[in-house]
Amino acid sequence: MRHALVLCAAAGLAAGLAGQPAVAQSDDRTAAEFDKFREVLEEANPAELWELKGEELWKTRRGPKNASLEQCDLGLGPGVVKGAYVQMPRYFADTGKVMDAEQRIVHCMITLQGFKYEELAKAPFSRGNYTPDPVSIVTYVAAQSREMKIAVPQSHPKERETYEIGKQIFYYRAGPWDFSCASCHGEDGLRIRTQNLPNFTKPGAQAARSFIGWPGYRMTGGVMHSLQWRMNDCFRQQRFPEPGYASDTIAALLTYMGVNSNGELYRGPGIKR
Ligand code: HEC
Repeated sequence: MRHALVLCAAAGLAAGLAGQPAVAQSDDRTAAEFDKFREVLEEANPAELWELKGEELWKTRRGPKNASLEQCDLGLGPGVVKGAYVQMPRYFADTGKVMDAEQRIVHCMITLQGFKYEELAKAPFSRGNYTPDPVSIVTYVAAQSREMKIAVPQSHPKERETYEIGKQIFYYRAGPWDFSCASCHGEDGLRIRTQNLPNFTKPGAQAARSFIGWPGYRMTGGVMHSLQWRMNDCFRQQRFPEPGYASDTIAALLTYMGVNSNGELYRGPGIKR
């Protein structure tokens, strides 16, 4: 029933988008229309299915070490999930570096459960039949921070250093088009076709578009995607080589964008077109 509603609404949206000429005014209407659909959809957000699956995976003994993730330390102590997502990336003394949520979960899957990084990196982004499935776990963890304030810490020197590295990566121009992230996300009001591009350099609500609503259920494809996926896809749009799965590069970028989002409310796993 829920699925039927989601599919109808998505089909209606697709039809609406296809009919719009690519001029600025229509783009605004399209964006408003999409926001309306999203509001309806969020009441029956299919992300919940990934959240439930993730919760089960968190609690299930798995991997070569046959352990659950219930001792995984996401920064607030072993097993504490509530509020952890909105306080990551953060510095972890056991690894000596700043890690984002997905990177940390992957770390726990390796250290506690005995999964191999190479195995996890082979098919990192959600596929229905992909059993280790970090994305569902990220969705579960993220959901436990719903309606909480984003508070990515900057108290440890490594956290401040990582922010600066992330900022540099954000502004680093290269590749065949000489693009940086800032080329598309560093000014107000930029668009590609019907898509509004948020300005992540502006602390507050605009920057928080990088954080709020991820992980997200993507209507195109009907799968759940984490921020790691979004980042990799933007590197591809930029015609850069894609970073390795759960890399420090992404953790640094997420630190930069996360800190710029501080103070905004995290809405929980969302819906993306
Ligand atoms: C060629 C233009 C382009 C470049 C360069 C680019 N992006 Fe994007 N970015 C996009 C588009 C298009 C979207 C999708 C917007 C939508 O779906 O509404 C997007 C979406 C995003 C989102 C999700 C925003 C949301 O509203 O959910 C994030 C986060 C992001 N980009 C980060 C980055 C980062 C970090 C870089 C640099 C590594 C980067 N982008 C480089 C075009 C670009």
